[in-house]
Amino acid sequence: MANRKLFLLPGDGIGPEAFDEVRKILDYMNDEEGAGFETDEGLVGGAAYDSHGESISDADMEKAMAADAVLFGAVGGPKWDDVPYDQRPEAGLLRLRKDMQLFANLRPAICYPALANSSSLKKELVEGLDILILRELTGGVYFGDPKTITDLGNGQKRAIDTQVYDTYEIERISAMAFELARTRSNRVCSMEKRNVMKSGVLWNEVVTETHKRGFEDVELSHMLADAGGMQLVRAPKQFDVIVTDNLFGDMLSDVAAMLTGSLGMLPSASLGAPDGVTGKRKAMYEPVHGSAPDIAGQGIANPIAMIASLAMCLRYSFEMIAEADRLEAAIAKVLDDGLRTGDIMSDGMQQVGTTEMGAAVLEAYKAAAA
Ligand code: IPM
Ligand code: MG
Repeated sequence: MANRKLFLLPGDGIGPEAFDEVRKILDYMNDEEGAGFETDEGLVGGAAYDSHGESISDADMEKAMAADAVLFGAVGGPKWDDVPYDQRPEAGLLRLRKDMQLFANLRPAICYPALANSSSLKKELVEGLDILILRELTGGVYFGDPKTITDLGNGQKRAIDTQVYDTYEIERISAMAFELARTRSNRVCSMEKRNVMKSGVLWNEVVTETHKRGFEDVELSHMLADAGGMQLVRAPKQFDVIVTDNLFGDMLSDVAAMLTGSLGMLPSASLGAPDGVTGKRKAMYEPVHGSAPDIAGQGIANPIAMIASLAMCLRYSFEMIAEADRLEAAIAKVLDDGLRTGDIMSDGMQQVGTTEMGAAVLEAYKAAAA
């Protein structure tokens, strides 16, 4: 088996704690299953800033570009509130997304049966929920120019962010939405704000055109993004795949995450276009939750989103489908057994810390192999 190159970027806050649990699973897969993971590790976010004054170094960027996949923890925290804007921890993450051209961000929101009671919504609304938010990740207001704050000289300042989308960016993300829908329930809902934004008008037009060019077997609907947010909390199970831009995707995926019980449960995959020669996509896998500085270092963070991100990595970057299935089943098993970190704790369950949760998932993974 050719070695599988993984570049690890634990980052800040609860990132490193959650990562420790992933490392143990990788070690097990290498030692006992001959998985052949070759890992290298770098710094990102505040950790990188503290070490060398930038949120990611060129050397680490190069390693990320050369790896088969990047596993990413989390970045940010109040400690870095006053660092220059270009070097803020989040800038490292945005550079990885942009330079690796990871335009497609898959954020599945699955409600594990055992957690239907942990959601802030009624159990019947979320039980069995399985939706996929496909967020455009390299365009829109995150990266548009100009992006400035100007002093107007009269005691006023003016801030500008630019929302910009070209046809090709909308085409490739909508094509991907249709392809993904075919592997699921075959429905795509596109969300934008065409009633107030030109980028919304073009988004709607291009998604509709792309649909006509070879994807008409997939059911397509459109929703204004604000109404989409409302529908997500009113009747989330109506959706299968939601495709939307970078900013709406950021917000809607946090909403979708809470439907499942906790932000601590959700993994994500960020993928680029297939390489012309090898057919392989550049890829980075990260939990949707942030660095959670308020609970960092206490050993109470939920490592499940990070472990589930590894499962997505096995599935999408290494075609290790059986292992990915087993790891996801291990997570479900541990939840069925009643183990809970604080964020998903409910009456009658057993509260555990980060390492206990990680160890329990690994044990369940091992047991399923036997
Ligand atoms: C996310 C995060 C990031 C984003 C931050 C950390 C820059 O909220 O991945 O959803 O806004 O994209
Ligand atoms: Mg976010």
